[in-house]
Amino acid sequence: MQRVTDYLRANQPRFIDELCDYIRFPSVSAQPQHRPDLQACAEWVVNHAQNIGLDARLCPTQGNPIVVAKTPRLSSNGKPRPHFLVYGHYDVQPPEPFELWKTPPFEPRIAGRSLFGRGSCDNKGQNLAHFKAVEAYLKTGTELPCDLTFVIEGEEEVGSRSLASFLKDHQDELRCDAIVISDTGMPTPKHPALTYALRGIAAFEITLRGPDRDLHSGVFGGTVDNPAMALAQLLAKLRDKNGRVAIPGFYDDVKPLSAYERKQFKRLPFNAAQYTKFLGVPRLFGERGYTAIEQRSARPTLEINGLTSGYQGEGSKTIVPAWARVKITTRLVPNQKPDRIIKIVRKHLAKICPPTVRMEVESGHGAEPYLVAPTGPQSQAALRALKLAFEHDPVLMREGGSIPIVNVFKKILKADALLLGLALPDDNPHSPNEKFDLDCFAKGQLMGAYLWRELARL
Ligand code: BES
Ligand code: MN
Repeated sequence: MQRVTDYLRANQPRFIDELCDYIRFPSVSAQPQHRPDLQACAEWVVNHAQNIGLDARLCPTQGNPIVVAKTPRLSSNGKPRPHFLVYGHYDVQPPEPFELWKTPPFEPRIAGRSLFGRGSCDNKGQNLAHFKAVEAYLKTGTELPCDLTFVIEGEEEVGSRSLASFLKDHQDELRCDAIVISDTGMPTPKHPALTYALRGIAAFEITLRGPDRDLHSGVFGGTVDNPAMALAQLLAKLRDKNGRVAIPGFYDDVKPLSAYERKQFKRLPFNAAQYTKFLGVPRLFGERGYTAIEQRSARPTLEINGLTSGYQGEGSKTIVPAWARVKITTRLVPNQKPDRIIKIVRKHLAKICPPTVRMEVESGHGAEPYLVAPTGPQSQAALRALKLAFEHDPVLMREGGSIPIVNVFKKILKADALLLGLALPDDNPHSPNEKFDLDCFAKGQLMGAYLWRELARL
């Protein structure tokens, strides 16, 4: 193991250069014009994997290609060797609004121990850390104690549609003892974390249509409904003053938090004043009766992600807009089911939509919430690896974000996910000036290196 950790230490500058190369691809899965960039980025991952000694291939799909890369399979005198998947994604969120980036999102920049760039923490830096750990084994001739298969996809940020059918088609090849994923966070550099739950998600796009064209608001305003106003009123009905989602049945399946779990949450480091300041809000707001940690990780929500209508250019334009549109996502917790949520949201919208506008509701991607007891031997092995790499006691936590594929892994491969996130709370995923901490990058590599040893010992 010494040779592996020495190799990692000695090669950080090159690893950082490689991460910069990875970040330069504008692999934005939500935007069709970037399809060639996703392809090129996937090819870079394959190439990189081959260079470090993996057997890697590009698997085309209906959407963006999936990279599969395997460590050389060693014989084990007939005994099956443990096999783990490492999952990650090379696609990134849209970088907009560009003007809020201090330097362009796809031109990586290092300041102190931060590497800025879209995708730096979510998720390129985190999955590259795992590649580097394996590179260290292979390049120092240190025998890996288990077989590994990397599955790096290009549609995570848009719901992982192609990967689900890919898993079904390749389940024999991908059968494994667990899936290791570094695509979540940790509370501070002194609190490495094993995440044991993720929220699910259900996405909607609602369009209200009024007149068949934009109208002069002076000539016609007052005689027809205004779609933007109608939408604002409709949206205002979806949440009450206590921060509860006001859709009948929304909370029906929510499993209440146990007293034990609520007590554990209180042990996580959290400073409300700092948090408020960091987010730039005048005051926090959330579901009454729950702490901020519970609100953002263990309680369901409904959020407006985007809202569009009428004239948005400079100056004024006096119109009644022809339409108004909103993008919404609900975050779900055990035991809410996206299909049922989609049904009740649609039903409620139809009920409260006024007859003065026409409504179209499109439901987008959905994913189930994930929760697994962090008590088994694999979790214990992961906690040991975290402690060895970060030299601090790890914490257990739930995260509010979603990784749609984890439940599909569970269903198809019957394996649990070990969520070992390396992102810090101020890394700005999905926001302008996303960054990745270079110490987290280095310790993430160490964590990977220890993890294979700890897991293989079981
Ligand atoms: N890495 C995130 C998920 C995440 C972030 C989990 C922080 C926990 C903490 C992932 O890349 C992501 O953002 N997923 C999307 C999925 C969605 C578009 C279906 C999300 O959660 O919004
Ligand atoms: Mn993301």
